[in-house]
Amino acid sequence: MQQVKAVVARSKGAPVEVVTINVPDPGPGEAVVKVQACGVCHTDLHYREGGINDDFPFLLGHEAAGIVEVVGEGVTSVAPGDFVILNWRAVCGECRACNRGEPQYCFATHNATQKMTLEDGTELSAALGIGAFAEKTLVASGQCTKVDASARPAAVGLLGCGVMAGLGAAINTGAVTRGKSVAVIGCGGVGVAAIAGSALAGASPIIAVDIDAKKLQQATRMGATHVVDSSLSDPVEEIKRICAETYDGAEGADVVVDAVGRPETWKQAFYARDLAGTVVLVGVPTPDLKIPDLPLIDVFGRGGSLKSSWYGDCLPSRDFPMLVDLYQQGRLDLDAFVTEEIGIGDVEAAFARMHDGDVLRSVVIL
Ligand SMILES: NC(=O)c1ccc[n+]([C@@H]2O[C@H](COP(=O)([O-])OP(=O)(O)OC[C@H]3O[C@@H](n4cnc5c(N)ncnc54)[C@H](O)[C@@H]3O)[C@@H](O)[C@H]2O)c1
Ligand SMILES: [Zn+2]
Ligand SMILES: [Zn+2]
Repeated sequence: MQQVKAVVARSKGAPVEVVTINVPDPGPGEAVVKVQACGVCHTDLHYREGGINDDFPFLLGHEAAGIVEVVGEGVTSVAPGDFVILNWRAVCGECRACNRGEPQYCFATHNATQKMTLEDGTELSAALGIGAFAEKTLVASGQCTKVDASARPAAVGLLGCGVMAGLGAAINTGAVTRGKSVAVIGCGGVGVAAIAGSALAGASPIIAVDIDAKKLQQATRMGATHVVDSSLSDPVEEIKRICAETYDGAEGADVVVDAVGRPETWKQAFYARDLAGTVVLVGVPTPDLKIPDLPLIDVFGRGGSLKSSWYGDCLPSRDFPMLVDLYQQGRLDLDAFVTEEIGIGDVEAAFARMHDGDVLRSVVIL
């Protein structure tokens, strides 16, 4: 066992604290990773607000890269010294989804078996089974995806959650390709990643929608061809208009990504979608929210599909090394997502800045 500093949310809504935690030595199938960088994702804030579940205290942070320090018995996939991105989809290889060749939907993903604890022995719930606002963290070895060691940790660590979720929501879940029109509602780290993914796939137009003008500027830098400030104009009408300008007869976008996760944004996505188009919900709704009241005939009459995207339907072993490659080649600007590098004591302030719309990603450097 070793003791390290880490960021913990003790109770619903209370500011997070930096405390000392106990990290067990890795058991069979586990690894301890020395965290180098971990992004602040909106999901961390959801955890501390009690929006995910009530299993306080939480050890936050889940968008990270680091170096494997020590591995437990039987671990062969990674070794001490490997540079890894942590993932929250360590596939089991045995469940029904894995057996039918769709491991990206694995129903039994692995996390560490042992628990990290507070100094008094209270067990911590690690955010998404990772808990990486910590100098070191204990994970299942399958949660470590080895990538090119020369990549910048603060940038590629973001593939561990938000950037992968957004990119994958567009490319994997939404099947965005050349010749498709895309609209993305909500341009935080996740939404802008969906825009970057759509640009990488050659889609056009790519329409960014947000209620915050600062976010729309960032979206343009990352590949949006059009922006809509939905605090000023109706995004459904604007998306329809822009798509019809590009494609004769288009009644909306082929793919609309909701990267906010509220009934009103989902409803906008639903009605801004062309016939036979796809809605991808990647923003995480809180448990109190309900699907908007829609005429069933509108669901039927428009055809197409209404999908949800967990982690961008990614397969870390396939997608992380590939995206790190694109980053190293200069084709995917992950550095642009890193608005600021902060210390472990600055997570609470980063939550406030996230709310104020000042950052795409604050990244804790350890
Ligand atoms: N599905 C997944 O696997 C997955 C993974 C990571 C994050 N998420 C979720 O994705 C969502 C976005 O995360 P993020 O880190 O980008 O958050 P963020 O806070 O950085 O960005 C949210 C953006 O939405 C905008 N917004 C808020 N209300 C809006 C509205 N009514 N209309 C238009 N825009 C609006 C904000 O201005 C902001 O730019 C969160 O719900 C997060 O929990 C999902
Ligand atoms: Zn499985
Ligand atoms: Zn996240």
